[in-house]
Amino acid sequence: MRNRRAALAAIASAASLALTLTACGQNSEGGSEEDKGGAEGATIGIAMPTKSSERWIADGANVEKELKAKGYETKLVYGEDDPDQQVSQIENMITQGVDALIIAAIDQTSSPFPDNRGSPLPRPKKKALPGRPTPVVSYDRLILGSENVDYYASFDNEKVGELQGSYIVDKLGLKAGKKGPFNIELFAGSNDDNNTKYFFNGAMNVLKPYMDKGQLVVRSKQTALNQVTTLRWDGGTAQKRMDDLLTSSYRSARVDAVLSPYDGISIGILSALKSDGYGSGSKPMPVVTGQDAEVASVKSIISGQQTQTVYKDLRELAKVASNMVDAVLNDKKPEVNDTKSYDNGAKVVPAYLLQPVSVDKDNYKKVLVDGGYYTENDLK
Ligand code: GAL
Repeated sequence: MRNRRAALAAIASAASLALTLTACGQNSEGGSEEDKGGAEGATIGIAMPTKSSERWIADGANVEKELKAKGYETKLVYGEDDPDQQVSQIENMITQGVDALIIAAIDQTSSPFPDNRGSPLPRPKKKALPGRPTPVVSYDRLILGSENVDYYASFDNEKVGELQGSYIVDKLGLKAGKKGPFNIELFAGSNDDNNTKYFFNGAMNVLKPYMDKGQLVVRSKQTALNQVTTLRWDGGTAQKRMDDLLTSSYRSARVDAVLSPYDGISIGILSALKSDGYGSGSKPMPVVTGQDAEVASVKSIISGQQTQTVYKDLRELAKVASNMVDAVLNDKKPEVNDTKSYDNGAKVVPAYLLQPVSVDKDNYKKVLVDGGYYTENDLK
């Protein structure tokens, strides 16, 4: 696998060389119509990570809808959870001349301006902003190590974890004064996704004090982030780990709660629990959290299996990202509400962060159905 960080440096200079050439009037496009600038009819490249999860399918569709409503053309690609495939998709879009990019990275170190490995410099045939580097909006997941990330559209990711941790503490009665001890196991997301540590740290902010007092016990002793990650957020991987944990640490004890960072992981955890007899007889299902409010998980919540999820309104995220691109291409400053939290190692990326909402059996109707995210029928 080639070094994506090194690729960045090469492309950053490619971008500035493109700038110089244009300033000298040596645009290889020969002064075509495209040099006039302006955002109308510009094409936006959208790189999404995978179709294997319902949320990213919705993200792609929502972003396209928003951009088309503003008069843009779109080009939407999915990287099938393969970082190299995603980088070459982005590379192709740059070569084809997209005017801006919205990227939900598979690997946080993926370069938005991939190295073109010795072939001539990419010369974006941009209609908007001729001569300037292609604007990049990091979507939901921050791309690290690159100065070329202009803006970040996401949710308050630490809050997501705090909502999961608080839910567990609340549901077990610890907040109301129960002493425990309760047994808990911890799961985190993919170690190449920048969001993972925010979710985990947010949850640990809430859980750790109870762990320190012995009111929450991790029988497996796997409490460090690098012991609990789940590559590519894969449900099967999580199921396998939960199977192993039940075998190694719960032959003579019951697990009372499982911190899960994402619905696809929760589904895997629940399968392992069910195979071990949880959810029937004297073994009630533990509290199991989640994220994304995917249909399968909301159904699981309604039927009393998964306990909670964190809802993030993807329609709003698509609006934020599209507005950012629209502003940049019209030479305006996009609206941001956070200019300090997301340092990607090369710069602090200005961000707009939306608020996540905890959802369980008690409020799913109000939040998801009344909020127009799903119909009652979707959840049957
Ligand atoms: C994260 C995202 C979560 C979840 C996860 C797995 O980056 O913030 O909402 O979708 O990926 O897809």
